Amino acid sequence: MRTEFLKACKGEKTDYTPIWIMRQAGRYLPEYHTVRSKGSFLDLCKNPERAAEVTLQPVDIIGVDAAILFSDILVPLEKMGCPLEFHEKRGPVFPEPIRTQAAVDALRIPDAEGDLGYVMDTIRILRKELVNKVPLIGFSGAPFTLATYLIEGGSSKNYLLTKRMMYENPALYGQLMDKITDCTIAYLKGQVVAGAQALQIFDSWVGVLAPCDFRDFAYPYVKRIIDALKAVTDIPLIYFANHGATLLPQTKHCGADVLGFDWRIGLDDVVRQVGQTVSIQGNLEPLCLFLPEDKLAARVRMVLEEAKGARGHIFNLGHGIVPEADPAKAKLLVKLVHEISREMRG
Ligand code: CP3
Repeated sequence: MRTEFLKACKGEKTDYTPIWIMRQAGRYLPEYHTVRSKGSFLDLCKNPERAAEVTLQPVDIIGVDAAILFSDILVPLEKMGCPLEFHEKRGPVFPEPIRTQAAVDALRIPDAEGDLGYVMDTIRILRKELVNKVPLIGFSGAPFTLATYLIEGGSSKNYLLTKRMMYENPALYGQLMDKITDCTIAYLKGQVVAGAQALQIFDSWVGVLAPCDFRDFAYPYVKRIIDALKAVTDIPLIYFANHGATLLPQTKHCGADVLGFDWRIGLDDVVRQVGQTVSIQGNLEPLCLFLPEDKLAARVRMVLEEAKGARGHIFNLGHGIVPEADPAKAKLLVKLVHEISREMRG
């Protein structure tokens, strides 16, 4: 198995910089559409054989150094008692949003095997398929990001209802976050038992919070998840706070092995702030995949140079690959990262 990804997470030396791509299994791949056309997105998440098949696609087609479980951050919420739908145009929808004490009280904590066994089965299939390939990353959403979907009832522009609950009814908000946190801990522990070799916590929307609100309303729950996992496993934990540069003075203390970054901060700036305490992941602007080859190569070199002083670096895009991206360019990106990082090591 190629182990560069796991080594970089732990700050061990590697021959080249490993790369994986957020949302690497998905709509930019024609092979994904072929499998996806057999049913809905949720059907695909709940079918372990097919979910495993699309997980493997970017490993075989693009050549990334890690696989990430094909699922969605929202599936455990369905098992908390919140019906979940994915609409072709609108994206995820929770038709019964959580906005009252009664709704929060009714939420249950799902059992990883009993309620989300299809995810655990997918992980078990993948570990067999990946034996001679690459490590498998499991994942969850972070509590704040998950709460925005439950409270808003889907995606949001300004997070009005979420922030109103935070400010108008902090006690209710806290109870909701406690339940989401407990659910996430059980879910991630289940993924570890099933065989995940690293875990990423996606905090996609946390960048909309002021630093003081992050401190009071989001960070403590992330910390609780990381502490709970660190008590039972030493597999690498990655915390990705999208749009999180201003939160770095806090996130650098969260206890994760790796911090992920979007493209709005230079990795040299990150290294100055975190020193050798953690490894870092990121952070090519995703739309750089539309640059011509020579300019793409220059940007790859820039990111690698900026990350040079890091304890460990895992190359990634600053956020998910877009459906319009050309798979050939993604494959080229992997090749460039491998070649240039080898050359830089002399
Ligand atoms: O390859 C991988 O990264 C693994 C699979 C994965 C998906 N979603 C598949 C997916 C992962 C890790 C996610 C995480 C996820 N889901 C996040 C955090 C990552 C991020 O981008 O910040 C978020 C916020 C979601 C919620 C979500 N799921 C939205 C908003 C949408 C609709 C918008 C969109 O991108 O389509 C989804 C649907 C979704 N999740 C798709 C895929 C492949 C598209 C579904 C389809 O085939 O139609």
